[in-house]
Amino acid sequence: MKTFDVYPINDITITHAKGTRVWDINNTEYMDLYGGHAVISIGHTHPHWVKRIENQLHQIAFYSNSIRIPLQDELAAKLGEVSGKKDFDLFLCNSGAEANENALKLASFHTGRKKIVAFTKAFHGRTSLAVAATDNPNIVAPVNETDNISFLPFNDIEALEAHFSKEGHEIAAVIVEGIQGVGGINVASNAFLQAIRKQCDDFGAVYIADSVQCGYGRSGKFFSHDFAGVDADIYSMAKGMGNGFPIGGIIISPKIKAKHFMLGTTFGGNHLACAAALAVLEVIEQESLMQNAEKIGNYLQSALKAIPEISGVRGYGLMIGFDVPDSHKNLKKDLLFKHRIFTGEAKPNVIRLLPSLALTMEDASSFIDALKSAIAQYQQ
Ligand SMILES: Cc1ncc(COP(=O)(O)O)c(C=O)c1O
Repeated sequence: MKTFDVYPINDITITHAKGTRVWDINNTEYMDLYGGHAVISIGHTHPHWVKRIENQLHQIAFYSNSIRIPLQDELAAKLGEVSGKKDFDLFLCNSGAEANENALKLASFHTGRKKIVAFTKAFHGRTSLAVAATDNPNIVAPVNETDNISFLPFNDIEALEAHFSKEGHEIAAVIVEGIQGVGGINVASNAFLQAIRKQCDDFGAVYIADSVQCGYGRSGKFFSHDFAGVDADIYSMAKGMGNGFPIGGIIISPKIKAKHFMLGTTFGGNHLACAAALAVLEVIEQESLMQNAEKIGNYLQSALKAIPEISGVRGYGLMIGFDVPDSHKNLKKDLLFKHRIFTGEAKPNVIRLLPSLALTMEDASSFIDALKSAIAQYQQ
């Protein structure tokens, strides 16, 4: 048997990692400013995370949700504390798509409605409803197609209000990323998120904040939606939550009430995943990683803005994007293969930075030097 070939990959095999560094089979060192797609939140193989998972492995790794799992209560309490959403409830699952599936399903149960509003360039995952709410026809299979989703232009308040005034009473939920990730680091304006809050309130719809990529402290606030000063009704989370250990979840406003069996999962919230997620929150708190993300992110954005060859520097904290001209379209590959730095990309010609929230000033500044020298090669 071989693996199903669904990804174009770089010909690199990583064997070990620490903090913001990874090493390949030849022991070549790379700086990781991609974080395995925004997943590495506290740094690769963080000692506290390793220890907590290791200790848990010796106790119990898994049992089903048919028994009490106090680690889930511990995680919910800690998450409430660190996120500031103390009165929300937590439902645990295993990935970002699954978190969004549960969020959309819950919104539909709660409202008794079917219609969903999503936005241009949105990415919410690859499973049935999540992919239907994703603005990329290439990854939507015929069986995923549905008339229940409307795509409205991102950051367009007028279009949002017009749509609600037409069919607001049929809308179950609006799902929106606070900062679109796969779409190319597009920041939702505060006014736009406030307008979503208002329309949802006026028409009894559920505001779902997809925080799978932009959440968990990456923006410098726990949820990037917090910049708008509004609370969503459901926040979906995954990537940074386990620092690489697979775990996802949604937190749910107290106005949405649980009923037995409306949601469920076999693996979600297992002992090992909870231990990993607790370790992440403990490190975020102990090492002030949200503050670090804000500080290093501000430095990176101002240094990037001073480089004339690149444009459109945007984002919050350590979720940063910028545009490179078509003449520099190999820049990401050059950074990887000549300068040994992993970055992310989005089409067309957008470079994304999604490093660990523990990125140091020294590493940030050596990235800027490497970027300048990579760009200088195009001038020759
Ligand atoms: C905003 C957002 N939502 C959902 C997902 C899907 O997460 P997963 O790949 O864990 O299913 C992603 C993944 O990139 C994402 O960026």
